[in-house]
Amino acid sequence: MTNNIYPIYDRIMTRQDKEALLKQRGMMVWFTGLSGSGKSTIALAVERELHQRGILCRILDGDNIRCGINAGLGFSAEDRKENIRRIAEVGKLFVETGIVTLAAFVSPTNEYRQMARDIIGSEDFIEIYVSTPLEVCERRDVKGLYARARRGEVKDFTGISAPFEIPEHPAMSVDTSRQPLEESVKQIINMIANKLQQSS
Ligand code: ADX
Repeated sequence: MTNNIYPIYDRIMTRQDKEALLKQRGMMVWFTGLSGSGKSTIALAVERELHQRGILCRILDGDNIRCGINAGLGFSAEDRKENIRRIAEVGKLFVETGIVTLAAFVSPTNEYRQMARDIIGSEDFIEIYVSTPLEVCERRDVKGLYARARRGEVKDFTGISAPFEIPEHPAMSVDTSRQPLEESVKQIINMIANKLQQSS
């Protein structure tokens, strides 16, 4: 083995073992959208509902991850890509443990989202575009970051001074300015429940 590294993949218990134990299948539900679009709010509500239904879930969220494993990464294109790469690798560990994993990251480009999909595997990856328009996110400005970005105090801010590419083929789009949170959550839960059923 190169670099004196000896993976033990062939000896660890398998994904099938984990999924049989949990009586569910793992998957990644990947939320993409502007800051303030509602990704985290939706993911939290989806987690609560699935938990109540007896499904083991795990949320990976931008601001949390950036305080922990990705502390030290900024918002340059290079750092965002590394942010998403690490999240996808960590997410894959959860998915392979049979957990319904909910990732809420801006993940602003098709390239980064495709990279996440490639790492996790297309059959386990559901992309949800939280399509709340920029004007609405900016009006909400929950964290005050849009105002600061407009004043030039936060550089490379997604939607203002850094790009956000509209996803090409999301499994679903939800716009929190056009329908109530509960409706978006219901649609997403139905999609996840279908996928859970397909494999049981
Ligand atoms: S990503 O682009 O690398 O996917 P991520 O989802 O981890 O971004 O982090 C986005 C969060 O970081 C935003 O919701 C916001 O709170 C905060 N943030 C701070 N600076 C920026 C910036 N320049 N662009 C976007 N989000 C920022």
